[in-house]
Amino acid sequence: MCGIVGYIGNKNAQNFLISGLKRLEYRGYDSAGIVTLNAEGEATLLRAKGKILNLEEKLAANKRDDKIGIGHTRWATHGEPSETNAHPHRAGKIYLVHNGIIENYKELKENLKEHDFKSQTDTEVLAALINSFYKDGEYPLANAVVQALKLVKGTYGIAVVSCLSPDEIVVARSGSPLVIGVGHDETLLASDASALLRHTKRAIYLNDGEVALIRKNSVEIKTLNAEPVSAKVEEIETNIAAIQKGGYEHFLLKEIMEQPESLMETLRGRVNAKDGTVRLGGPGLSEEKLRGIKHLVIVGCGTAYHAGLLAGYYIEQFTPEITVETVIASEYRYRNAYIPKDSVALIVSQSGETADTLACLREIKKQGIPTIGIVNAIGSTIAREVDGGTYVHVGPEISVASTKAFTSQAIAMVMFGLTIAQAKGVKSSMLRPYVEEIAKLPEAVRETLDSTHDIVKNVAEKYAEYEHAIYLGRDTAYPTAMEGALKLKEIAYVDANAYAFGELKHGPLALVDDRFFEMALLPEGELYEKAVSNVQEVLARGGHIVAVTNVEDFDLPVESVIKIPAEIRLFAPILMNLVSQLFAYYATVAKGLNVDQPRNLAKSVTVE
Ligand code: G6P
Repeated sequence: MCGIVGYIGNKNAQNFLISGLKRLEYRGYDSAGIVTLNAEGEATLLRAKGKILNLEEKLAANKRDDKIGIGHTRWATHGEPSETNAHPHRAGKIYLVHNGIIENYKELKENLKEHDFKSQTDTEVLAALINSFYKDGEYPLANAVVQALKLVKGTYGIAVVSCLSPDEIVVARSGSPLVIGVGHDETLLASDASALLRHTKRAIYLNDGEVALIRKNSVEIKTLNAEPVSAKVEEIETNIAAIQKGGYEHFLLKEIMEQPESLMETLRGRVNAKDGTVRLGGPGLSEEKLRGIKHLVIVGCGTAYHAGLLAGYYIEQFTPEITVETVIASEYRYRNAYIPKDSVALIVSQSGETADTLACLREIKKQGIPTIGIVNAIGSTIAREVDGGTYVHVGPEISVASTKAFTSQAIAMVMFGLTIAQAKGVKSSMLRPYVEEIAKLPEAVRETLDSTHDIVKNVAEKYAEYEHAIYLGRDTAYPTAMEGALKLKEIAYVDANAYAFGELKHGPLALVDDRFFEMALLPEGELYEKAVSNVQEVLARGGHIVAVTNVEDFDLPVESVIKIPAEIRLFAPILMNLVSQLFAYYATVAKGLNVDQPRNLAKSVTVE
């Protein structure tokens, strides 16, 4: 949420800032801005509402060969998306970009009467506050930043430059990620390592409560209490190809289609189909500890939450004496929930930066419950703060709607469940079918994507103009239906909701009319016939049903049928979800909407 970039070196700063912002545009995209300084400290501030493209147009008439600058792409929190509210914000001689929320900005603003506020943002308050300590250069910039941050309540990742010292950038973080790229004769800065990749693979991940003074050839880090921190330079693990579209029209389609490989990466070295076992090194729990687990709390937001719900159904199927509670992080953090001592918490997050999920992690840790991360972004805050973890290794997910992460998160959590069941001595005849299917899944994912692609496209185009949709499923197909509805809502702006088949008669059936279509997920299994009866009830009321099924002799008179390969039984819902992903994608394309950057949303939600 919001992207930050910064540059200091010998090259053209404007060029780096613009290309970096384009990389980060998926994090927020309602306005953007950059400021650069020349050697004399003269600033060129460019800001524009909307996409980076609008900013580039302004840049064309304002090219500078400045060697230092900071930039920002915004996801509005305080104040509408507009040029005035776009960052960088100025106060006196300083410019500031900020990711996060200053919660006590109103209170702080009361004491900053001398500043002529131009915007409605909390960020401008912080700029003015820093300037009130800086006193137009009377005190060092880094000191002024520290003094100001000591008064701030909230979250921030910030970068500050001053016209009076055009050879330094001061950055700080608390709750919003910042990565410093260490180059040759240049130092770079971004809120996401992907923006640095073209320039360097050497990075310093700033921790909460740290402030860094960045120069062309040095990075000096201290805590807010002025204790020096020795900077640890790490290697960025992603490659350039992973953050490009690779011939696809949209990142979303690329990410859907790369699931055979991304899932394979999740399984690599962890599944032994021959002896029917799985092995996860990352969680770091002893056999004894695993054996003693009686309760799992799974915490996530959005798609990660759905992956947790789905995994919970599976884990309960094969693990004796265990309860699984999957919770929405933004709710759980304020619940007065008692977590029994023999619990383990799974913290699920693609980005590893989601504010509510991170807050839950910290709360749960306080209760002394072991925390295991199910995270994709390597080195992210959640990955660093959990007690142990399993990276899903799906590579960067750029499109705002999450796809490949869901598949791998669900399976990684099922594998964690299997390690518990193994430790508890569950018979291998019980676990083997799960392990064998997991091993076959990457290939089945490929087959499903190939065999259903064209038909899903046709069906999606047919239903694209409906304003309402009901997704239906039960058991493991129910969280799958929830995830399918979320995809359609997020990118195609369809009012799509999911219900458990059994709940239809308790309300949603009243909705069925020609404004709605129903997406019925119908995996073969013991509840299939019951779900079929519910489908009949919808049909009898004139429903427009799209059925997704692996039942070979499926012959219900529904409007459209999408068949998925029959070989996979237990994990058929995972394959059905691929259909939902493609369906949402093609419905969005048919409507001419922005697939990768849906309105009002952002990829990584680093504010509460
Ligand atoms: C945002 C994204 C979703 C994602 C959710 C949780 O809303 O748009 O795609 O599922 O955040 O993100 P996380 O990075 O914690 O998995």
